[in-house]
Amino acid sequence: MIPVFEPIIEEDEIAAVVDALRKGEISGSFGQYIPNFEQAFADYCGVKYGIAVTSGSTALHIAVTAAGVGEGDEVLVSASTNIATALAVIHNNAIPVPIDSEPLTWNLDLDLIESLITPKTKAIIPVHLYGHPVDMDRLMQIAEKYHLIVIEDAAEAHGATCRGKVIGSFGDMSCFSFYANKLITTGEGGMILTDNKEYADKLKLLRNLAFTQPRFWHEEAGFNFRMTGYQAAMGLVQVGKLDRIIADKIKMARLYDKYLAGIKGLQLPYTADWATNVYWMYGIVLNADFGISRDELVQKLRSAGIDTRTFFCPMNIQPCLQKRKGFRQISCPVAENIWENGLYLPSSTHLTEEQIRFVADEIRKLGRN
Ligand SMILES: Cc1ncc(COP(=O)(O)O)c(C=O)c1O
Repeated sequence: MIPVFEPIIEEDEIAAVVDALRKGEISGSFGQYIPNFEQAFADYCGVKYGIAVTSGSTALHIAVTAAGVGEGDEVLVSASTNIATALAVIHNNAIPVPIDSEPLTWNLDLDLIESLITPKTKAIIPVHLYGHPVDMDRLMQIAEKYHLIVIEDAAEAHGATCRGKVIGSFGDMSCFSFYANKLITTGEGGMILTDNKEYADKLKLLRNLAFTQPRFWHEEAGFNFRMTGYQAAMGLVQVGKLDRIIADKIKMARLYDKYLAGIKGLQLPYTADWATNVYWMYGIVLNADFGISRDELVQKLRSAGIDTRTFFCPMNIQPCLQKRKGFRQISCPVAENIWENGLYLPSSTHLTEEQIRFVADEIRKLGRN
């Protein structure tokens, strides 16, 4: 089976983890690997502070807390995303408000934002979906006009750029995941980036049970969201490889573009002329001209030894969100269409041209042409 994704772990990651273990950097409270990883990744993105945590989900959770979002507030979120984006809002007792996708990049539709803002809207979490950046220049203008706090969900787009500027450096805070299938990984892990010292201090407090002075006296209800030293050691090595990984992802995407070209009823990933798409996953969307349904295609590809994943189920129809008091029924036809007809193909950086050609040929055989 060609898997959807397989991380590459080389001898230098292994050596770094062993070194952290030998130095006793096992917990999330001591040692140099955590601050070094935080600094290296923040530097890569051109942001001042990095706060390493246990996952992208916990990064989002405390970013929303640090933003001061709480009971009764509304937070705009991309409709098409991993549930973690909306859960960060729910777990802070606020209400996520889904913004439908736009049909080309599948990112949130910037034209819809203003119509969804109410006096309760406090923040917005744009998601850079599947590696394509949101137009952050335009989004920041809208956010400024309405005094919204911006938290970028950059879990899927490490190193992507918007008009030459690395994403994660636009919002008040940005959140990354280092889960095994992300562009760079620490197994599990996440990080919040910010230029704002107050946010950085608050985030450090929140991830560490809000310990203050005197010790064991807690003014705030914090969390243990600390990353371990040996994860940070792996992360530090991975940051050094990010440019190479992005180059390999782009190469993979160009090969898919070439071999999938001209198949009827197939929408391929789009890259805006102001963007670097880092192709976390290479997504495709079918329409009726393709000939068979997305689910049939998924099944047939699996029989041929090719693993795929469907696109995300949008936030407007998630039962766990719909049940919440105050959740607004918002129609998101584009996000629903890509959820029903979208899938992503094997996207490991070490796929060979033969494998990519094989995947594309299978898809071509199963379609009408
Ligand atoms: C857009 C998005 N946000 C948040 C997350 C959550 O990250 P994690 O799995 O590290 O908790 C993910 C993915 O896993 C994601 O794709």
